[in-house]
Amino acid sequence: MIYHDLRSFLADVEKWGELKQIEGANWDLEMSTIAELAYREGKRPVPALLFDKIQGYPQGYRALFGEISSLKRLSAALNLPLPDNNPDPMALVRAWVCKLREIKPIPPRFVSSGAVMENSFSGSKIDVTKFPNPRCHEMDGGRYIGTCHAVIQEDPDTGWVNLGTYRCMTIDQNRIALHVLEGRHGRIIADEKYFSQGKVMPVAIAIGLDPTLWFTSQSTVVPWGVSEYDYAGGIKGEPLQVIKGPHTGLPLPANAEIVIEGECHPGEYADEGPFGEWHGYYANLGLTPVPEPVIRVKNVFHRNDPILTSGSPAVPPGINSLLSAISRSAAIWGGLDKHGIPGINGVWCPEEGGALLTAIISIKQMYAGHSTDVGLLAMQLGGITGRQYILVDDDIDPSNLNRVMWAFATRADPERSIQIIRRCGSTSSDPITPEEDKRKAKLTPKPLLASRVLIDCCRPYEHKAQWYPIARASSELSAELHQKWASLFKELGA
Ligand SMILES: Cc1cc2nc3c(=O)[nH]c(=O)nc-3n(C[C@H](O)[C@H](O)[C@H](O)COP(=O)(O)O)c2cc1C
Repeated sequence: MIYHDLRSFLADVEKWGELKQIEGANWDLEMSTIAELAYREGKRPVPALLFDKIQGYPQGYRALFGEISSLKRLSAALNLPLPDNNPDPMALVRAWVCKLREIKPIPPRFVSSGAVMENSFSGSKIDVTKFPNPRCHEMDGGRYIGTCHAVIQEDPDTGWVNLGTYRCMTIDQNRIALHVLEGRHGRIIADEKYFSQGKVMPVAIAIGLDPTLWFTSQSTVVPWGVSEYDYAGGIKGEPLQVIKGPHTGLPLPANAEIVIEGECHPGEYADEGPFGEWHGYYANLGLTPVPEPVIRVKNVFHRNDPILTSGSPAVPPGINSLLSAISRSAAIWGGLDKHGIPGINGVWCPEEGGALLTAIISIKQMYAGHSTDVGLLAMQLGGITGRQYILVDDDIDPSNLNRVMWAFATRADPERSIQIIRRCGSTSSDPITPEEDKRKAKLTPKPLLASRVLIDCCRPYEHKAQWYPIARASSELSAELHQKWASLFKELGA
């Protein structure tokens, strides 16, 4: 099923029993904490949480948490077959890796109007606090209108349009602070193509996207120079509909819930944060706010009864960690495939660690040095946040942390198995870098660096054939006893 907007997707999510409507919560900490606790401690699949009658807001001004935060919702967003009742994250990663090979970008189609134009405000009528912007965590420095959205920018030299999920803090009715990390496409466009040349940057924020476009906006697989609009069109197999923004000229998703148009002026900054992040820390600069570019809002468009989509990152697993795990695992696996590396059995980036720091790669070893080759290449594919790369043999399911721990404990030899790569890239949100170094970096452009580690938990290639026999029931014996002692095993849940 192809979804053209968030609402048609939510109608299906409700049919699947994965939508929970909640009335009467407060935008200040309550909505986000309910979402945080549900996603970290609740039974899976955790439903998408749709808040209405939010305190201080008219009925209909809604907030949604966890749009695609289950395997079924995520499969639908990726236009893949829906999983059965026993969904398996590795099956979804595998299916997504296969689909990635076939995606042919389809540019969006311009239309003259769309549902997002049902309400339009400019000048003194602008007020972005008319939507229930949540304050997410107790030590946060403000309310966030953008935590589950897309920021739209254009490369003025080529006309390429980039979409990225970069958080947006509401400063007041018509100003928003934009936090884009080092190395992101949106940061390079802002710094290199506008600010360094003294140019004003047109920018738009689209909130309440159809699930495919939202997934694509936060995905690292879309290369520099390719628009996420085209990529999302490729996933759907048909063009998205966009409207030419009256102020910015940028293409705006015609059926989004909310779109904000504005501009950033070079040298204009405002304090952003602190904000609790996906790895579970206030790691940008501790509890000190950081100056970030200001978006001067020029137009606000929204549908009737708008839905503000939100995320509330916190100690993982959390609201976006499944999405990040699937997305990053497939990016690494797909990249290894593209380089023609043989023997990849699976890749999993565990949600428990926030998904973007640690990658576990299962391989069928085929030659001496194979595991090192895979680990070193994976380090290039795991993004600037990647830190630990764990290699396991193909008898280990990388998404089963019990098995991974067994391989680590029994097959990793500290002297042979650990290789540290120093002076790799890092970002200002990395909790491993001391706050003091980040302060210096802001003052003196000292680059931020961090190390990466390859932990080889595979049986050494040269001794693999002589490795000790494994002490566990064979699959034949297990099957036989399961049949013979069916009710006992049912009772034991084994
Ligand atoms: C919920 C969520 C929030 C994110 N917030 C930020 C952010 O505030 N700043 C940032 O630079 N990246 C953030 N990211 C990561 C980027 O969206 C991601 O790296 C994306 O690929 C960037 O697009 P780009 O490759 O076009 O730069 C976030 C990702 C998710 C899933």
